[in-house]
Amino acid sequence: MEENRIEIDRDLCDGCGLCVTVCPTGTISLMEGKAAVSGEESISCGHCEAVCPQKAIRVMAIDEEMSRYKTFTMEKQWLPPGKYSTSVLVQLMASRRSCRCFTNQSVDRAILEDLVKIGITAPSGTNSQSWTFTIMPTRKAVASFAEYIASYFGRLNTTAEKTMLRLFLKLTGKGELDAYYRGYYRKVKKALQEWHGSGKDRLFHGSTAAIIIGSRPGASCPAEDALLATQNILLAAHSMGLGSCLIGYAVAAMKKDASIQQSIGIPSEEGIHAVIALGYPDEVYQRVTGRKKVTQRYFEG
Ligand SMILES: Cc1cc2nc3c(=O)[nH]c(=O)nc-3n(C[C@H](O)[C@H](O)[C@H](O)COP(=O)(O)O)c2cc1C
Repeated sequence: MEENRIEIDRDLCDGCGLCVTVCPTGTISLMEGKAAVSGEESISCGHCEAVCPQKAIRVMAIDEEMSRYKTFTMEKQWLPPGKYSTSVLVQLMASRRSCRCFTNQSVDRAILEDLVKIGITAPSGTNSQSWTFTIMPTRKAVASFAEYIASYFGRLNTTAEKTMLRLFLKLTGKGELDAYYRGYYRKVKKALQEWHGSGKDRLFHGSTAAIIIGSRPGASCPAEDALLATQNILLAAHSMGLGSCLIGYAVAAMKKDASIQQSIGIPSEEGIHAVIALGYPDEVYQRVTGRKKVTQRYFEG
């Protein structure tokens, strides 16, 4: 396919065949001692370009701009397995905490754009890269988004207050509203009172930026792709001095009320998978802590 075009410079190619070995789709083969495109199944993953010692291959869909960062420089050299400190990596992972206390300092757009580029270094099913990122670069934008979410939960709470409706739905096998009432109604009611009263933001915790991670239609694993990009962003944000928090309430509201995503300019055909609140943290931890006991098992064949 034209969009997945691979160009091979036959003069540079020395026929080593490494590109043939790493290609996941069998798109390249050796012909008359040189690499040649012999199939139409390329997914533009870039393995052939990355492995070629002669720099003879270009995957045309790869946009160099996507790996040019504005706020830091990245070593372009590939890190082989085992050549990075596991200890440093895990310390970063364990030090990232959900931030629920942000300062009012805004986040530079260059940082937010770099975070998106870091997000998309994640793998994606069949390399579809169908993720989308909607950046809210200011507190004003976050607050007006929060208003839509608060309005949704206000309406949901009003519905959930109707005892007979809850019981009727439950009896007809639709226990969702009753489960919401039992699990969230009171918490949400208190948060909404604070939002409308003192302006305390229990939803986005006063964050000064946010990123919504969505997906264009047609991907094989849109949610998985988006959440992998999301974790990249969370870790990178921490390394850049930012606090972050996933806002599941916002995702839930957007999934139930399609008008919210239209109101903020996200096309209706896109799926919504994560909302990340971002900003400078107004909290300091003394140590990292662990997790609950995990369920782990082996299958030995
Ligand atoms: C899918 C998902 C949704 C979440 N939604 C919210 C949310 O709406 N509000 C919030 O304050 N924290 C939210 N969190 C943060 C979790 O509460 C947090 O990850 C968990 O308590 C572990 O703490 P840690 O992130 O600091 O390690 C969410 C986390 C995940 C993974």
